[in-house]
Amino acid sequence: MTLALGVLVSGSGSNLEAILEAIARRELDAEVRLVVSNKRGAFALERAARRDVPTAFVDHEAFPTREAFDADVVSRLRGRGVEAVVLAGFMRIVTPVLLEAFPDRVVNIHPALLPAFPGVHGPRQALEYGVKVAGCTVHMVDAGVDTGPIVAQAAVPVLAGDTEASLAARILREEHRILPRALAWLARGELVVERGAGRPRVRVPAS
Ligand code: GRF
Repeated sequence: MTLALGVLVSGSGSNLEAILEAIARRELDAEVRLVVSNKRGAFALERAARRDVPTAFVDHEAFPTREAFDADVVSRLRGRGVEAVVLAGFMRIVTPVLLEAFPDRVVNIHPALLPAFPGVHGPRQALEYGVKVAGCTVHMVDAGVDTGPIVAQAAVPVLAGDTEASLAARILREEHRILPRALAWLARGELVVERGAGRPRVRVPAS
């Protein structure tokens, strides 16, 4: 059953591109029904338009609260029949308004090996800390910041002479690999969030 996706973006959209390419290669049984950006000039909107994917610019500054912004976004997503939401380089905190509209169906890609280095500058924090291994994480979004249950991760080496840009680029290549794969699991109904004692965990297919 083709999964109807909504993708929220703020910037370049390389993860969006990776999703669209995986769909084109029939590696991901999904359809991107709407791309929503909170940034007017986000190149991600150009990437979507080039592939005839519907887009919307929703200016978060035009709303009195995060909840009001989310309600507008939810309305647009529902209007397109979206079943799952991907935060792909989306730089806003989402609220329960969005999470409750798509329970266990909001996925984020983060450029660090969570729980290490949450927040907006994962690669920079990794370099500043001096870790020798960095990476990226796909996780289900909960009400916290980068705290939801983990779906997939990939590690990359931190090399001598790395800059924030060189490390971020190495991580980004892995993001483009693990995000479409995680979404393919979701599309096949193979992701199960297990809630018991302690943290929720996501059961994924045996690799
Ligand atoms: C990526 O590293 C993503 O993890 C972070 O923003 C960066 C750019 O993503 N949230 P994209 O090229 O806009 O998909």
